[in-house]
This record gives sequence, C-alpha cells and structure tokens, in this order.
Amino acid sequence: MTSERRVALVTGAAGGIGRAVASRLRDDGLDVLAVDLRPDPQGPGTAFQADLTTREGNAGAVAAALERFGRLDVVVANAGIQHVAPIRDFPEERWDQILALLLTSPFLLAKHAWSALAERGDGHFVAIASAHALVASPYKAAYVSAKHGVLGLVRTLALEGGEAGILATAVCPGFVRTPLVESQVADQAKAHGVDPERVLDDVILQPHAVKRLIEPEEVAATVAFLIGPGGRAFTGVPVTMDLGWTAR
Ligand SMILES: NC(=O)c1ccc[n+]([C@@H]2O[C@H](COP(=O)([O-])OP(=O)(O)OC[C@H]3O[C@@H](n4cnc5c(N)ncnc54)[C@H](O)[C@@H]3O)[C@@H](O)[C@H]2O)c1
Repeated sequence: MTSERRVALVTGAAGGIGRAVASRLRDDGLDVLAVDLRPDPQGPGTAFQADLTTREGNAGAVAAALERFGRLDVVVANAGIQHVAPIRDFPEERWDQILALLLTSPFLLAKHAWSALAERGDGHFVAIASAHALVASPYKAAYVSAKHGVLGLVRTLALEGGEAGILATAVCPGFVRTPLVESQVADQAKAHGVDPERVLDDVILQPHAVKRLIEPEEVAATVAFLIGPGGRAFTGVPVTMDLGWTAR
C-alpha cells in the first residue's frame, strides 16, 4: 500500500547527524526508512541494514523504501566516515572505502531513487556534505576529495532534475558534535603533534569564527527547511552552515 505521507530515506541514521535528521523528519510527519550499517531498532524511523559501500546495499535500501512505503519523496545521503593521515601514509583501502561511502553511495541512491523522486514533481535529494566540500584541511585527502565530489554530483542532479521538479542540495556544516568528530581526536593529536586535550580548541574549532560545535539538531533543522515550503528555491547549491569557517 502506498503511504499517504511523504517518505524519506535517510542514510547513516543510527549516527549523530543522521539520527537527528530521521527524528526531525519523523516528527514533521514523514515516514522514514532509517538505513545504517549498524541500524538501531530503537531509533527513529524504520531501521534497515545496508552496507552502503556496496552497489547492492544502495540498490537494496531504495528498493526497501519503495516496497515498504510505496513511494519515495526525499533522499538524505548522510552516512559518512573519516580517516586522518598524511598523504604518504594514507591507507589506499581507506581511500576506496571513503570514496565509496561519501561519493559513490549518493550517486547510486540518486540513480535508483530518480524515477520515484520524479513521480510527484517535488522530489528532494539532500547530501550532507561538509565545509570540506568547499575548502580543504591537511591529512583528510579522501574526505575532502569525496566531499568536493558530492557537491559536483548535487549540482549535476539539480540540472538534470529541474524539469521533473527534483531539487538537489548539499548541506555543508562545520564541525558537529557527533561520534565522527569525537573519534578523530586521537588521530588529529598525532597528525598535528598536539596534546589530545588541546585538539578541540587548537585544531577542530580553529577554523570556526564562532568557537563552538554545531549540534546535530541544527543540521536536521536545515534539512527540514530545505524539503519544506521555504526551501523551494534552493537547488544545485551548497547550503553552508559553518560558523564562519569559509568566510576567510
Ligand atoms: N560531525 C561533523 O563534524 C560533520 C561535519 C560536516 C559533515 N559531516 C557529515 O555528516 C555525515 C554524518 O556524520 P556524523 O558526524 O553524524 O557521523 P557518525 O559517525 O555519528 O554517523 C555516521 C553513521 O554512518 C554509518 N555508516 C558508516 N559506514 C556505513 C556504511 N558502510 N553503510 C551504511 N552506514 C554506514 C555509521 O554506522 C553511523 O551510524 C557524514 O557524511 C559526515 O561527513 C559531519
């Protein structure tokens, strides 16, 4: 049976930002398929397990949303990982994995969801990119490359989706308070040669003009805005929310 409510597929929905997005969209009245490598059955939305570094994982997630809800209106490509290392030591298998999850997965999700997104003339594709889609930082070669790439993908989707009413945007936050950031502290300390206790202030918050972490709920509110009536003029653009990082 086809849901009467809008349906969103959110990836990385068991993690920091994805969970907040799934929760916000559910509270706003959407049916949510909450996709993750390690899904949380207690989390917001309908939990679905998929490894999004694989082609089958991405095709399977879109198929599951359509099978369960009969429609798909919003895709939020959010799942992500990080690896911090100087280029000469950067593990090649981590490069492959990061590119697969941060760039190829959004491409595959868009490809498989495209007809469903076009069906009602108001589909939305939102990538959770990063300020790193716009600027670089040392020791994050794979992440920065993939995030720049996903902005290119979003711009392309916006052009291809215009006539079908599909809007595509890339949310570009600065540092957000999530496990992904917390797990970087030890590696950042090593790569930058600073005390782990100083990493938050001296490395992570250094590029923010406003010295705080962004909360996952703030990113979720931006996604909710973009897929709502106020977001109808936004397509093919980075939606930057980085506390002044890229102003310099
Ligand atoms: N935290 C930040 O500061 C920040 C800033 C800008 C952008 N982002 C982006 O936001 C997104 C979410 O990041 P987060 O900070 O919430 O991370 P997180 O580590 O809290 O959550 C990521 C989620 O992705 C899932 N995941 C990992 N590998 C997967 C796979 N192969 N298949 C399916 N799911 C997988 C994890 O299980 C986890 O639940 C990422 O794309 C990240 O690059 C984060």
